[in-house]
Amino acid sequence: MFEKHEELKKIFAEKAGKVAASSDIEELRIEFLGKKGYIASLMQQLRDIPNEHKREAGQRINELKSYIEASIAEKLEEIKALEIQKLIDSTESYDESMPVSADLGSYHPITLVRREVESIFTSMGFTVEDYSEITDDYNCFEALNIPKHHPARDMQDTYYLSSNQLLKTHTSAAQNTILRKYKSNLESGNPIRAIFPGRCFRNEKIDASHENTFFQMEGIMVDENISISNLIYFMKTMLSEVFQRDVTVRLRPGFFPFVEPGFELDIQCLICGGTGCPSCKNSGWLELCPCGMIHPNVLTAAGINPEKYTGFAFGLGLTRLAMMRYGIGDIRVFNSGNLKALSQFTEKSFVRPGSSSKEA
Ligand code: FA5
Repeated sequence: MFEKHEELKKIFAEKAGKVAASSDIEELRIEFLGKKGYIASLMQQLRDIPNEHKREAGQRINELKSYIEASIAEKLEEIKALEIQKLIDSTESYDESMPVSADLGSYHPITLVRREVESIFTSMGFTVEDYSEITDDYNCFEALNIPKHHPARDMQDTYYLSSNQLLKTHTSAAQNTILRKYKSNLESGNPIRAIFPGRCFRNEKIDASHENTFFQMEGIMVDENISISNLIYFMKTMLSEVFQRDVTVRLRPGFFPFVEPGFELDIQCLICGGTGCPSCKNSGWLELCPCGMIHPNVLTAAGINPEKYTGFAFGLGLTRLAMMRYGIGDIRVFNSGNLKALSQFTEKSFVRPGSSSKEA
């Protein structure tokens, strides 16, 4: 029997040496290790071996089996690497100067709305700022007058990283950084005017109007004598530009520790016209843009004198704005990757607001 093992080992090595494709490896595996393969047949023959030799024979079969398994795994790796290399070598070079077909893709509806809002605010002198998706407790909460254990944190549970960092729950997390970045404007007599769009994350239940990953756009303006009327003016301008028609909004008191006074700006649901539907939780209204006058503690945390300067801040729900703008009744469509649904906006996507020419 032991000679048989050696013979099998030789046959295997010979066959393995000739294998050139990963499909051949599978055949080899079945031939030697399969249910009806050589190793299984050796195992069956164990029955006929005298008891005193059984142990050693079993051991030798297992050794042979392990040898074949390891050789097959090694050979497979080798062949896969060769196949990948072959693919790379055979990949045709492409012509970078080929014109791109407009059919290839389209902008995501959130990108379209973000760009529209950005161009409205930049035309009013606001800068567009970038801020990371990962931040820390200080920027997301403490610098915003939300100390540890403050009940307002319950509304914004998020995903914490092992590095003591977290995924930002709102674009307000960038306020401290942006205020610091531009506070020298104030000393030279210029206002701070900035918007900062960004992806936000919350550990919350998903429904037609709530996602765990969504976009907001924050806006701040700080100067001497900034008041609620400035805030209302900018909000009204933005909404009438985005919708290009009258939309019904309502302003009601809202509590956020980083503004005082604070407001909720709701828009009458454009999906149902205010009669009630799943998008607006049957209320006829959609919370769109909370806002208010920046709390003195927030200005102080950024090194700005609240006795001298005041400002407003707003946190526009960009994903919800896109729902209303394009009549998308369910927020889950945005992250679905469903091209059939999202590509409906292809035509619009290549037309800049206020222009009839197509964008490349
Ligand atoms: C905030 O996030 C505050 N940072 C906004 C703010 C900024 C207030 C500046 C005052 C001054 P709120 O949690 O309500 O607030 O979210 C703001 C907007 O983001 C909501 O009105 C809504 O339009 C959108 N939003 C909030 N949670 C979700 C969600 N889970 N899915 C989709 N949109 C959401």
